Amino acid sequence: MPKVLDGAAIAAQIKQEVAEEVKLLAVRGVRPGLAAVLVGHVPASEIYVRSKVQTCADLGIFSDLISPPDTVTTEEMLELVENLNQRDDIDGILIQLPLPKQVDTKALLDAVSPAKDVDGFHPVNAGRLQSGRPALAPCTPAGVIEILKRSGIPISGQNAVVVGRSDIVGKPAAMLLLHENATITICHSKTRDLGAVTRQADILVAAIGRPGFITPEMVKPGATIIDVGINRVTDRAEFDRYFAGNAKREATFAKRGSTIVGDVHPHAFEIAGAYTPVPGGVGPLTIAMLMANTVRAAKMRRGL
Ligand code: GUN
Repeated sequence: MPKVLDGAAIAAQIKQEVAEEVKLLAVRGVRPGLAAVLVGHVPASEIYVRSKVQTCADLGIFSDLISPPDTVTTEEMLELVENLNQRDDIDGILIQLPLPKQVDTKALLDAVSPAKDVDGFHPVNAGRLQSGRPALAPCTPAGVIEILKRSGIPISGQNAVVVGRSDIVGKPAAMLLLHENATITICHSKTRDLGAVTRQADILVAAIGRPGFITPEMVKPGATIIDVGINRVTDRAEFDRYFAGNAKREATFAKRGSTIVGDVHPHAFEIAGAYTPVPGGVGPLTIAMLMANTVRAAKMRRGL
C-alpha cells in the first residue's frame, strides 16, 4: 500500500512552529502583519482569503483585510499597494488572484515591495530564488518541499519531474528541487512522449491544472507523487471515471453535487510509493507557508 502524505498534519506542525516564533518576536516588541487584498466577490477567493485571515488570528499575526470593489482600476490598486509598501505595521502583502480583467496584474505584482512579497511573485524574488540568494519563495512550491522533507523522502540525486511550467508553481517548484540537488525535468503541453518522461520520475510533481491528467501508465512503480491540482468535478460521467466504487466520494458527491480531484488520476496513486491526496495534501501547506513567509519577512525587514 502506498504511503499517504498527510498535508494537513504537516501544515499543523508548521503553523505550531510559526506560532512559537510569533511569541518570541512579541517579547521583542515585534508583531508580524499581513495585508490581504481581496478584490470583488470571487467565491473561491473569498474562501481562501477568509482562511488566510483566520489563520493569522490563530497564530498571533496581525492582519488587515482590504476589499476594493470589482470596478477598481489599476491606478487605484497601485496607490493601495504603495500605501501598504509604506506601512510599518505591514510585513507581508498578499494580493489574491485572479484580479478583474481591467486590472494589470503584472504591473501590480511588480509594484509590491520585494521585502513584503510573501507570495514570492515579484521578479526580484524569482531572480533571487533562481540565483540561490535568500528569497521569499512562492508558498505552494515551498510547501511541496516541506512535505517531502518532513516525510523523510530523499530528494538529493533523485529524478524529479515537474509537469506544468507556471511562474507560480511549476518553475519555482523545479528551482527549489534543484536547490535540494534533485535532477529536474520540467514538462508541459508541448513535451513529446510525456509518459516516457514522467516514468523516469522518482518524484513526480503534477501542476498542470487538468483533472486526472496523470494516468497510471505514466507513473514509475514506487514513485512519490505530489499532486498540486485542485479541480472541481460536477459531471457524473467524469466522477465515475475517477471515483466509481469509492463509497466516501459517492457520499460527498451525493451531498454536494461535486467533489475535488487533483491533476493525478486516483488510480495512478495505487502505483506510487507515496502520494499527497486531494484534498488534504499540498493544499493545507499553502496557507502554512504564507504564515511562515510573513514571519520571515517581518524578521528580514528588521534585520533579525
Ligand atoms: N490564487 C490562487 N492561489 C493563490 C496564491 O497562492 N496566492 C495568491 N495571491 N492568489 C492565489
